[in-house]
This record gives sequence, structure tokens and C-alpha cells, in this order.
Amino acid sequence: MAFFFRQRIAEKLCSRLQQSEDAITPALSAVPVFRKQQSADFKLSIGLLRARGVLPSSGDIQQQTEHLASQLKPDRVVEDVSAGSGVINFKVHRKLLVQKMLEPFGKGQDEMFGLNSDLFSSLNRGTTLVEYSSPNIAKKFHAGHLRSTVIGNFIANLKQSLGNKVIRMNYLGDWGMQFGLLGAGFGQFGCQEELKQNPLQHLFEVYVKANQEAESSGGLAQAAREFFRRLEQREQEALALWQQFREITVTEYQRVYERLGVHFDVYSGESSHQDGVQEVLQQLEGRGLLKTSERGTGVVDLSPDGDMSSVCTVLRSDGTSLYITRDLAAAIDRMERYSFDEMIYVTDKSQSNHFRQLFQLLPTLGHSWADRCRHVPFGLVRGMKTRSGDVVFLEDVLDEARARMLRNMEQSKTTKQMENPEETAEKVGIAALIIQDFKGPLLSDYTFDWDRVLQAQGDTGVFLQYTHARLCSLVRRSGAAEVRDFEPSLLLDPTGVAVLQHLLRYDELLYQSAQDLQPKHLVGFLLKLSHLIASAHRELPVKGSSQEVAQARLRLFGAARSVLASGMSILGIAPVERM
Ligand code: ARG
Repeated sequence: MAFFFRQRIAEKLCSRLQQSEDAITPALSAVPVFRKQQSADFKLSIGLLRARGVLPSSGDIQQQTEHLASQLKPDRVVEDVSAGSGVINFKVHRKLLVQKMLEPFGKGQDEMFGLNSDLFSSLNRGTTLVEYSSPNIAKKFHAGHLRSTVIGNFIANLKQSLGNKVIRMNYLGDWGMQFGLLGAGFGQFGCQEELKQNPLQHLFEVYVKANQEAESSGGLAQAAREFFRRLEQREQEALALWQQFREITVTEYQRVYERLGVHFDVYSGESSHQDGVQEVLQQLEGRGLLKTSERGTGVVDLSPDGDMSSVCTVLRSDGTSLYITRDLAAAIDRMERYSFDEMIYVTDKSQSNHFRQLFQLLPTLGHSWADRCRHVPFGLVRGMKTRSGDVVFLEDVLDEARARMLRNMEQSKTTKQMENPEETAEKVGIAALIIQDFKGPLLSDYTFDWDRVLQAQGDTGVFLQYTHARLCSLVRRSGAAEVRDFEPSLLLDPTGVAVLQHLLRYDELLYQSAQDLQPKHLVGFLLKLSHLIASAHRELPVKGSSQEVAQARLRLFGAARSVLASGMSILGIAPVERM
């Protein structure tokens, strides 16, 4: 209950400064735990108050800080007030800290901890559409698609936890010339039997072969164009084959996404908006925005000076649509269907320009809601390979993570007692992939390395899972299913206090992640929590302590486990109970 303290301190400041709480709270934050026995729990930034016009910004800032600090007296909540450099530090009463922070747990609502904070009251709680994963049928599912999948899932989870209505959408690459190739190629290289046995693999092979063949012989290239024309004219037979490819792909993907703990409410795709595309083109035409370029393509001028120095192509010279034209129609359709309050697209950064153009084109068609759309770009992953070579399918990565993790686990005793070690290895392996991916800023590129990803020590997903499993085992072994009353004064050891001080920051970090949609804040918080728990494990044994002390410590560990588990779930990780 960080906000209990934040509010009390804000109230104290309000009466002193004759200002509203809203003006003050943004300058007040929990202090990151750097060392044991850290005395400050919250700090007030005087610089921020000056910048926000709450305090006069003339005069010496340090004098101002010290003057204000000296006017604030300890009370029933605050034990000590002191001036730092440009900040005022607040220390709350230790017993109250223990009591208030542990109060919300064990009442069947543990997973709500931090989420009902006052910090979130200003956030928009409407409908959020998140579009992510979005692979292309018959093509590779590359590391970029994996990143999009896990990042989009995180954003959707976070928004949902904060009370938004979330629509999870997968926008498949299910239209375009490649389906001409695939359709025509299937006649030559395809096999219905194989398609059923091993759909993704077979479609990919047919597509690769068809591509090679089309390059060397004009015949197949011609047949491909012909097939795509038939598709665009919605000829039954062609459409039925395409439909089969699409359905079989979606079913396969659903199965693999499930392993990842990912699901979608809607599978849409580039094929879904063909009427919309025609409408968009007509509207552009009607508004006099559609120009014909020298090469015969249809373009829209996006240059600020109207001199065609920057144009966006929306129509090929043969009259077929492009990626961006389909995206325009798709965005409009989504608005009509879902009236979203925000829409988030998650793709790698090479598509940033595409989305910039999309968000620029929408208002020219009168869609002022374009400002509710946001692109979340991420960097490239280099060198993600499996033993059989480059990553082609999502399943390959998951299998590889599971197999490697299982091998690492085989050395441990507990693995031998496990009922289903594969399942645990899978969950731990996925946690490792996710943490590796979420640790830094999403925009950074990184080089993938299995050994580093799966390390048990250090800041990895394995370490988070290990910490969680260890906390579960502690509770299991103590046999204390029920959380009973406890005496707060038995939890005043610095190591335990440090854990609680750290929990004071949870809602602030969730808030940061909700603002910039970067998982790194939450990841950093959970890793730090795990390190603090490791020290607490060492210094605050449960076994061998008196019953009261054991009871109180279990309460602390139980709370830490809850927060760890709910934070992990928001990241898209299923916490394991044994490993
Ligand atoms: N299928 C595309 C690709 O693999 C990603 C789609 C992204 N979303 C969109 N609305 N354009 O590159």
C-alpha cells in the first residue's frame, strides 16, 4: 500500500504549501533500495516542484529545500524528515511500514496489490486494441515475430491489469502476390497428405520451391500471377485452396501460441479489407489526393510543402493494392468495429516509416482519431539459431529452449522428483527468453546467446523462476496454508524492511511501464526483488525460529511471492512452483 504513505506525506505537504495533492504527488516517489538500512522511504523533488510552479523557482534551491524540510515535523506516519541535495527525504515509522505493506495480502486479492493505486486514476480506462505477432502465412516466423508476440502480449496484459478493455489482435500476412505463388506452386509441389501432417513446414517448402522455380521459369511466374488474379476476383476454387492454407495455419499457430501462454481475440489479416481498400482509394480520389506518378503508380503527396518531395504509394500500376493501402482500410474498419480509445501496433523498427505514413494518411481522410494510434517499435535480434540452423518456425525456438533447459535441470535433485519436468523446463525456458528480450530498451538490437539466456545466476528469467519456486517450497514445507495474524515488530530486521521498501515502488514502476510501454521497468523491479529475497532467505530463516517469528517471516515471504508472481504474469511468464 504504497499509496497510503504517498497520500499521507502529500497531505502533510499540502497543508504546509497550501497546494492541492495533485500538484504535489508527481514530485513524490519511493526511494530505490541501494543499501541495507536505508533510512529514506520517499523523496520529494524540489526541482520538480519548482518546474511545476508549485514552489517559486527563484532563489537558491538548497536553501529552499532545507527551509521546507525544517518546517515539516514528524507525525504518526512520518518518523523522520531530512533535507538531501535538492530533495526532502521521508522515513515512515517502521512498524507502520510492515503493517500497511503486508495488510493487503492473504485476503484472496493478492494479485491486485499495487494495481488499485491512486497513481492510475488519471489513466484512460477505455478500450485498447493491441495488434501483435502478425506472421505471414507460408513464410518464416522470424525472431522479429517472436519479439512482437511477447511484447504485444505484455502490453495487453498490462493494460488489462490496469482495468482497460483489451482486444488482442493478430493481423496475418494472408494476402498478396505470394499467395499467387503458393497457389500455383501447390499444384506442382504440394501434397494434401503432407499439408495435414505438417502444415507450416509443408507450406513453407512449397513456397520456397515455387519461388526458385518462378525465378528460373517464366511458366510458374505466369501461373502465379494468374492464380492471384483469380483470388482477387474471388473465384471459388482458388479461394477454397487459399482458405484451407489460412485455416490450417491459424490452427497450428494457436497450438504453438498456447505453449507460449499467448492468445488472440481476433485473427484478422491483410485479406480482410478488400472492399475497404476500394473505398479508401475512392475517397482519396474524391478528395483530389490520389496522384499518378511517372511510373503509373497511384501516390499521395505527404510533403509539407506539397511539392511531391515525399510521397506514399498506395496503388500499383497494375491496379493492385499495397501493404499500406490495406493497413489504411484495416485501421478504419477497426475503428468502426471496436471504437477503440487507443490502438497499439507492435512491429520491428524497420516499419516505423510505414506507420508514420499510415498515421499521416488517416487524418487526410478525415480520421482525426489517428492520434489514438501508436506504433511500438523494437530492435533486431541477431543470431537466434537452433541446432538445426536458422529459426524458421516459432515451435523450433520453444523446443530448443525446452530441450536446453531440461538438460540444465537434469543435474538437480528436484528434477528427478518432478512429475512433469518437460513442462517446467518449458515454462522456465520461456521465462528466460522473455526476460532476455525485455531487459533493455525495446528499441535496442541485441545478439542472442542461448547460454547467457539460460543462466541460472544473474539477471535472467531462470533466476526469477528459481526465486518463485523457492518461495513456494518455503511455504509448502512450513505447512502454513493459512496466513494468520502476525506481530509486525518481529519483522524489523533490515533485510526484511528492504524488501518492503522495495515493494513501495511497485505501483510507480507499473505506472512507468504503462506510460512508455517499456517492460524494462517492471523487469528491473522483479529482478531486484529477487535479489532482496535471496538475502532475506539467508538472513531470516523460518526453520528453527520460534513460532511467532516463523509466522511473521512467512507472511513477508508470502507477500513477496505474490508480487513476484503477479509481476511475472503481466510480463507473460507462468511462474513455476517447483524446479
Ligand atoms: N505481417 C507483417 C510482417 O510480418 C507485420 C504486420 C504488422 N501490422 C500491420 N498492421 N502492418 O512484417
